[in-house]
Amino acid sequence: MKDAAPQTVYLKDYKPTAFVIGRTNLTFDLYDDRAVVTANLAISRNSLSKDQTKILTLDGCPGLDLQGLLLNGQPVESSNFLVGSDSLEVFNVPDEFELTTIVNIRPHLNTTMMGLYRSRTMYCTQCEAEGFRDITYYIDRPDMMSEFTTTVIANSTAYPILLSNGNPIERGELDNGRHFVTWHDPFKKPAYLFALVAGALSVVEDNFVTQSGRNVVLQIFVEEKDIDKCGHAMLSLKKSMRWDEERYGREYDLNIFMIVAVDDFNMGAMENKGLNIFNTSAVLVSPEVSTDTAFQRVESIVAHEYFHNWSGNRVTCRDWFQLSLKEGFTVYRDSQFSCDMNSPTVKRVEDVSFLRTHQFAEDGGPMSHPVQPESYMEINNFYTMTIYEKGSELVGMYHTLLGEETFRKASDLYFERHDGQAATVENFVCAMEDASGRDLTQFRLWYQQSGTPILSVQTHYDETRQSYQITFKQNCPDTPGQTNKKPFVIPIRLGVLDHDGMSISLNDAGDSEILLEMTDETLTYTLENIKSKPIPSILRGFSAPVKLNYGPSHEELAVLMANDSDGFNRWDAGQRLTLDACMLATNDIANYCESSLPVSLIEALTKLITDDSLDPAMVSLMLTIPSEALLYEQIDKIDPMTIHHARKLVRSEIAIALASKFQETYHRLKSNEAYTPSAEQIGRRSLKNTALSYLMLLDEPRIDLAWSQFQSSDNMTDKSSALVAMVNCPLALDFATRALASFEDQYRDETLAMNLWLQIQATNTQPGALNRVKALMEHPSFSMTNPNKVRSLIGSFCSANLVNFHNESGLGYSFLREQILQLNQANPQVAARLVAPLTQWKKLAQPHRKLMRGELQIIADAPNLVKDVYEIATKSL
Ligand code: BES
Ligand code: ZN
Repeated sequence: MKDAAPQTVYLKDYKPTAFVIGRTNLTFDLYDDRAVVTANLAISRNSLSKDQTKILTLDGCPGLDLQGLLLNGQPVESSNFLVGSDSLEVFNVPDEFELTTIVNIRPHLNTTMMGLYRSRTMYCTQCEAEGFRDITYYIDRPDMMSEFTTTVIANSTAYPILLSNGNPIERGELDNGRHFVTWHDPFKKPAYLFALVAGALSVVEDNFVTQSGRNVVLQIFVEEKDIDKCGHAMLSLKKSMRWDEERYGREYDLNIFMIVAVDDFNMGAMENKGLNIFNTSAVLVSPEVSTDTAFQRVESIVAHEYFHNWSGNRVTCRDWFQLSLKEGFTVYRDSQFSCDMNSPTVKRVEDVSFLRTHQFAEDGGPMSHPVQPESYMEINNFYTMTIYEKGSELVGMYHTLLGEETFRKASDLYFERHDGQAATVENFVCAMEDASGRDLTQFRLWYQQSGTPILSVQTHYDETRQSYQITFKQNCPDTPGQTNKKPFVIPIRLGVLDHDGMSISLNDAGDSEILLEMTDETLTYTLENIKSKPIPSILRGFSAPVKLNYGPSHEELAVLMANDSDGFNRWDAGQRLTLDACMLATNDIANYCESSLPVSLIEALTKLITDDSLDPAMVSLMLTIPSEALLYEQIDKIDPMTIHHARKLVRSEIAIALASKFQETYHRLKSNEAYTPSAEQIGRRSLKNTALSYLMLLDEPRIDLAWSQFQSSDNMTDKSSALVAMVNCPLALDFATRALASFEDQYRDETLAMNLWLQIQATNTQPGALNRVKALMEHPSFSMTNPNKVRSLIGSFCSANLVNFHNESGLGYSFLREQILQLNQANPQVAARLVAPLTQWKKLAQPHRKLMRGELQIIADAPNLVKDVYEIATKSL
């Protein structure tokens, strides 16, 4: 148990600081076993604060070893300051002064990957959210914006490259083989955007001319061995820079933009001003070692971090309760970008699947919280699906409600009004209101109320009057701390089809689609002159983040699936059909009945796969039935084994029914063209590999196809798909074993490829997975100190191999608990993220429920628990 429960921070307690730090001058003296950090801060009273305290309080951490403290150049007497475990207090300070602190820190012992730490041979930093206080004493909060000048000093041979934010203004040689570079960032920024990198790095360089004609030098710094994997990131960066100018009128503002790739990183990437730091997995790709998914991830993460330059850096957050202001908005911007660069429907389907599987689960569980939370214990726990994905959906709803032109006016207004400020969600909503002239009072509830609203639909066709009525009713379940919620504003994009799949016009203007704005608990929409009972296409494009409670017949779904003019709803109709099939199979298995697929489903899928006019990427998505995790969302007392078998049964039956079609498709899409990560090629590879995965489910699986694809393919997408297919096929054991060995042999030195190799084995659904995972923990390619490896092996096993993780023995749960407690102190953030699978215990059937809860209890009772893990474990019990 913790000695004392960690403190909770409340939004309602926000107060401006008593002092501001106008200028921040930092000097880093880097040595192998320590860094000496000198901070010279120009401090004055904050005109926004009434607090006339004479005590300056700076944030710190136990690792700061204070060597010197000067006020206006004079040493501060020991009676005039107090070093606490997390703070430094200086007493009797004047209204305006310069404070100098000198601290020693030990980056080489830092395993948390917050603050200044080492990754392989280099030094790097991660300061968001509260890591800057691990580097030096500071007012470490996002509304403290300061002008930074940073000098980095280190040995010239080991650390030839010395980087920080902004522009380099001076460099030179020093004694003892050391050198220095001084950087100045002209834009005021909070400390969480500070960055420093030192190492022996190679660079790929390019340039970009902005819309106003300024030249920007673009650099990507990597280890020499990775220099051939930067091209795609550079291209993505240039595309992002152009796109933000065109779509949002946002131009880049420094003369240099740098990206650094580091192997040890808790997250994907970080938007530090002018010096983005990326996890290698989020920037490095090449066809031979990376999958299409990795290519697309790089494009969107590069864009995301770049877009933060405006939505996050130029306009930052007042406090961490406003996190979605920058993250939700930037996720929305990066998904718009991906839509424009690739297939918009494919991207929308991927985003919505992700939201429904993960954000809905979070919002229905013990960690459910509003997009603007009211309190937190550990801010790192609030970089959640809700802040990011639901937050992005909220921005999308403004776009839907206001229309493109007004939405753009509103975003321009927001950026111009708050440039250089630390803003709030409220500021953002006001900009939307002021640009549109609309009252968004009720819309604000989306930020305050947690939980996923349920939108129920009832239809009525009156044959004699030839009128058709759709009645919508909304309600939102109770969530922790919130009951009796008020109705939300729900934008409902709606179309109506006849039974031949033709769209029906909805008004005199002949529109085939309208936007309804639901504001009350119920809404009724009536259509006249309807000749026969129509089929509604509701919530097109997923126009609001709600659960639709509506049960169209299989025939109606098949019509929508084949004809809806909205690509998203075509996919969604298909998902509903396959979801139904899975649920039926689940019941049949649970009741020991024979199970078989609805004929309408087979017909619909046959039509789909034989229609050459369709985008292969969409066909592939439509042939991909809901994941086990999504099925968990539909059920009260989850029985993992039954769900696994039901899903597998549905897939096998689809495979048998469509075997010849899959085979034709597979051969039709095989190609010899050189690899590019274009949307077209990615779509074709995706459908081809979906076909292969079905062909591997036949009674006589097509191991021959998988094996030859594995051996002959020149790209990792095809190679790994073949490997996954073999690894998961009980009849292909020998081939899988050989393929895994040959993969290991070929990619031993390619870290990212080996992470994929670990992940493929961790997600092998055949029995015995836990023992295989345990064995792999001893493999030289695994390391408990590298977050990517922990995620690839342990994370994947617990969140993407559900049938094995939830093994009735409970050994999966106790294994996870052991790993969490082992990582607890070493890397609190990675440990806390691993707890997520256990938090869902209430939704499972016995004995899982009891066993999972038991492990959570052991975690909560463990000694020396960090607050990251403590918060999630205790809130979930
Ligand atoms: N600002 C975050 C990085 C971050 C997250 C820092 C949490 C500290 C704590 C960054 O902009 C981000 O959101 N990165 C995402 C990727 C993005 C494409 C959603 C990430 O790292 O996963
Ligand atoms: Zn972000």
